[in-house]
Amino acid sequence: MASRHPLHEVRRPDFELGERHLRVVDLFAGCGGLTLGAAQAAHDHGLAIEVPLAVDFEQAPSDVFKANFPKANAHVAAVESYFDGAIGAEPTRTELNVSEQVGAVDLLIGGPPCQGHSNLNNHTRRDDPKNRLYLRMARAAEVLRPRVVVIENVPAVVHDSQQVVTRTTEELTRIGYRVAATRVELVQLGIPQTRRRHILLAVRSDALTAGLSVEDLLKFEPQNTHDLRWAIGDLEHASTDRWIDVPSRMSPENQKRIQWLIDHDELNLPNERRPKCHQGDHSYVSMYGRLAWSQPAQTITSGFGSMGQGRYGHPSQPRTLTPHEAARIQGFPDYFRFDAAVTRTQLSVIIGNAVPPALSRVLTTRLIALRVLDSDS
Ligand SMILES: C[S@@+](CC[C@H](N)C(=O)[O-])C[C@H]1O[C@@H](n2cnc3c(N)ncnc32)[C@H](O)[C@@H]1O
Repeated sequence: MASRHPLHEVRRPDFELGERHLRVVDLFAGCGGLTLGAAQAAHDHGLAIEVPLAVDFEQAPSDVFKANFPKANAHVAAVESYFDGAIGAEPTRTELNVSEQVGAVDLLIGGPPCQGHSNLNNHTRRDDPKNRLYLRMARAAEVLRPRVVVIENVPAVVHDSQQVVTRTTEELTRIGYRVAATRVELVQLGIPQTRRRHILLAVRSDALTAGLSVEDLLKFEPQNTHDLRWAIGDLEHASTDRWIDVPSRMSPENQKRIQWLIDHDELNLPNERRPKCHQGDHSYVSMYGRLAWSQPAQTITSGFGSMGQGRYGHPSQPRTLTPHEAARIQGFPDYFRFDAAVTRTQLSVIIGNAVPPALSRVLTTRLIALRVLDSDS
């Protein structure tokens, strides 16, 4: 029997079932893309997932996280209120409490906010104080002493004026971790999206299997690559009964633009058909563009419902991507519930901010297979 499309799965696997556990702490957890990938990998290996702590300071993504991981100890709070001590200092009273309540941790994962060093933003914002939140991951590692730490970010994080990657690497090394970093092309992990991410991996020295280097662990197995049709082809004429399948309303001008692209079999809108304020600026050729079935999508951001924010025109329909399609392109299977988001803007931000689960799935799979992550060993 042909195996079911992994993104069409509507029944959530019982990620909490199993005698052996993978204990995961997720900081800046958002809706839980990284946790989902770790849970999928654990499930594939017969391990149950346990989330003794997940933290995000926004209510809406936390509600989505909680809806998908009801047993997780998820909190709406600032990460720095849980890990409030200086790096290298004795743990604070709060940190001692957190560490006592959380217990042993296998995997500490986190995607600190990246607005400060995203290439999509102004370059002068690289010294945004938010970038220092990256270093809170090192502090959390110092307090919790997990076997493995994974920090996900945009590739431009390496150019950050605060040198957060170098400083975090130094700190993690100082406290007994082996550290390596890499840039991952998500297309190579089977995600139909031209998104690149920076991954910093740190393994506690005693957890590193003999003969393995931390660099070896970042050598992922190549996955089957997929195009856009694979991810959303079945949703081309989806019923709009559910909120998640309803596209954004478009202005009559934008409807004409996407219809023109479809009728003329063009992916890029000619200059004269763009709004006046966007004419002449060809650095953003993808704006007002149409996606191609046979290619990966561009990076999904919270603007996926707007022609003016990128190449988000549907390949064959006079509309932009629906939230459901954007979630699929991020690699979320249909069993992942986004209905806890209250407004459409929240839904778009949650989906656009999410980390494709494939990233942590592939990495966690490798860590389990090589027995770096196995809580009973
Ligand atoms: C890029 S998103 C994380 C996506 C998530 N890791 C995933 O796997 O889907 C960054 C998240 O950090 C949260 N955030 C930003 N600053 C924070 C802080 N100081 N404390 C807690 N959460 C924070 C934001 O609300 C946002 O949900």
